[in-house]
Amino acid sequence: MNIAEIIAWKRDGEELSAQQIAWVVDQFAHGKIADAQMSALAMAIFFQDMTIDETIQLTSSMLHSGKRLTWPDSDRPKLDKHSTGGIGDKISLPLAPVWAALGIDVPMISGRGLGPTGGTLDKLESIPGFQVNLSREAMVKVVRAVGCVIVSASDDFAPADKRLYALRDVTGTVASIPLITASILSKKLSEGLDALIMDIKWGSGAFMKQRAKALELANRIVAVARQLGTPTRAILTDMNQPIGRMIGNACEVHEALEILEGCGPADTRELTMVLATHGLLSVGLETQWASAWRQVEMVLDNGAAREKFSEMVRAQEGDLNQFNRSFQRYPIVAPVDGWIQRFDCEKFGYAIIEMGGGRKQASDQLDFRCGIELLVEVGNKIQRGQPLLYLLDHPQPSARVLEILQQAIFITEHPPVSSTGEAPWLLVEQNETT
Ligand code: URA
Repeated sequence: MNIAEIIAWKRDGEELSAQQIAWVVDQFAHGKIADAQMSALAMAIFFQDMTIDETIQLTSSMLHSGKRLTWPDSDRPKLDKHSTGGIGDKISLPLAPVWAALGIDVPMISGRGLGPTGGTLDKLESIPGFQVNLSREAMVKVVRAVGCVIVSASDDFAPADKRLYALRDVTGTVASIPLITASILSKKLSEGLDALIMDIKWGSGAFMKQRAKALELANRIVAVARQLGTPTRAILTDMNQPIGRMIGNACEVHEALEILEGCGPADTRELTMVLATHGLLSVGLETQWASAWRQVEMVLDNGAAREKFSEMVRAQEGDLNQFNRSFQRYPIVAPVDGWIQRFDCEKFGYAIIEMGGGRKQASDQLDFRCGIELLVEVGNKIQRGQPLLYLLDHPQPSARVLEILQQAIFITEHPPVSSTGEAPWLLVEQNETT
């Protein structure tokens, strides 16, 4: 086969065959296709899209570029959740131990910050000593001992995705539905799961700004994962407000601990419970929503999930006794009287990057302690001089940080018009695209 012909074929809107896709991924994974050629193919896919069959083949080939976990002598169901990333999204931290406390194994491969959205691994590394780079064997050992682990993808898992993602990141080809689908699923399905829960974000704090696009992605992911043998449910969540009050690294771990201690912000607890309940139903541990919900509530309120989180941290060499849960607070106040009309949520993420809590370059060292505690919500009436947010452990914000924060919060003289009445989350179980 000839890569130049395959690129031209896709560029002209033709469908690639399963053999062509398998060949490309295999050659690319073995370093036999130049980065320039693979980038050109990614751009052709970006503009021409892929059919469901092509997306299935791409995902399957990328999955098989690496190893896949198997769990031959374990009878606990294997489950994971993937979020496409949003501002303040710390849900993986309470969710994994909730499932583990209820008899489910969670071998979670997670990521670092991507653009303005934070990464679960960065958050966990704010706990002194916490190790995210575990070998496959060590990862399996923690799952067997504790029931949950959260690690970065080692080179064993979907190496073709690692290389392709690095190219997409620098060639403007991230936001492509078939490429995102293959990228996420090639990693997640290598965990050897019985089921997968997807949290697809849309809105100003997500990389899919439009709900319709997020729905398209949800449908594609659900269809492809099912074809490849992993039952998958997706919910769509609105990211026009951050999740919870805390945005950053250490402060988000603190808020996750609050959820595990039976308190914390209502939206964060509710989203954790919604995702956890879907998980129990999808692996068949429960058949009724209400009883599954009660199980989740029980382990959040009786300390069982909190204990699992502590066990996981210890197993990954972290020390929660050294983790400081108090933060110095520096208020940013409202410049005028008015109403919170809306947030440009991703600006909070960019402010965190500017403060040093996120990366501009892959090699940047993070300041885990800096963060934002948001004190207001859309629709709140506010008065001049009232604190809108606290900067955490960041006493001297630069002019640029203050400018970005000013762009994040829209204050108007009149109350905002009421919401559209859309469900805050929408479940995608049916394949609506085929
Ligand atoms: N996360 C991934 O792992 N891959 C993508 O392509 C986008 C988000």
